[in-house]
Amino acid sequence: MRKKVIAGNWKMNKLPNDAIEFITELTPLVKNSENEVVLCVPYTDLFYSLLHAQDTNIKIGAQNMHFEERGAYTGEVSGEMLKSIGVEYVIIGHSERRAYYNETDETVNKKLKKALSLGLKPIVCVGETLSQRENGLAKDVVITQTKLALQGLKNEEVEKIIIAYEPIWSISTISTGKTATKEDANEAIKWIRKEIEKIYGSEVSENVIIQYGGSVKSGNAKDLFEMSDIDGGLVGGASLDAQEFAKIVNYNV
Ligand code: PGA
Repeated sequence: MRKKVIAGNWKMNKLPNDAIEFITELTPLVKNSENEVVLCVPYTDLFYSLLHAQDTNIKIGAQNMHFEERGAYTGEVSGEMLKSIGVEYVIIGHSERRAYYNETDETVNKKLKKALSLGLKPIVCVGETLSQRENGLAKDVVITQTKLALQGLKNEEVEKIIIAYEPIWSISTISTGKTATKEDANEAIKWIRKEIEKIYGSEVSENVIIQYGGSVKSGNAKDLFEMSDIDGGLVGGASLDAQEFAKIVNYNV
């Protein structure tokens, strides 16, 4: 049985005090959850969040990292730096980073390798644009992104990765007015799982956690997460409110 992983992606939101308040409010609400609870917070909130999440079942993640260990990369943060303060998860290749910060399939692959070598748990994002979907290219795009992200990884490494299928057109801040149905989401996740099976075998494909992301809320979480292949979610907007996020985590209670 694959575990459900419910990860919040705060994006560029919340000051340290907000993070502390949020974790204080969330802690009792999710303490009995059998699901993995993760908050991916801004760099400046990491240390405070880690301190306040100590002795709770809330795991803390970053939203990006550099693939080099150190050097002349002004403004960047390395995986080693994240690891050194106890960060456990890291989002890699979110569509916003691909769109605005020149993240490519190649840099995603390098970051993934680096994260795994450090024992960080990567959440790798893949997903198509609306025009790609409308032109029947979604499957190709998602499979290609997945293959390139995982290129050169060993079976046991692939099993440690979390993949987040996030159709860009379904993300709440992208105003297409459309959201993926639970069937759309499950189908795309099956494409990914099938491709992983082809390359890495059925044991790996059955174990790899694949989340859905894009306008997940308390109102649709249960429907989505009960689908055969959806192993939880990467939650943006709805992760900014502790009560709402707790309802998503507790979708099955
Ligand atoms: P959303 O964002 O839940 O606000 O749609 C998801 C994401 O971008 O990770």
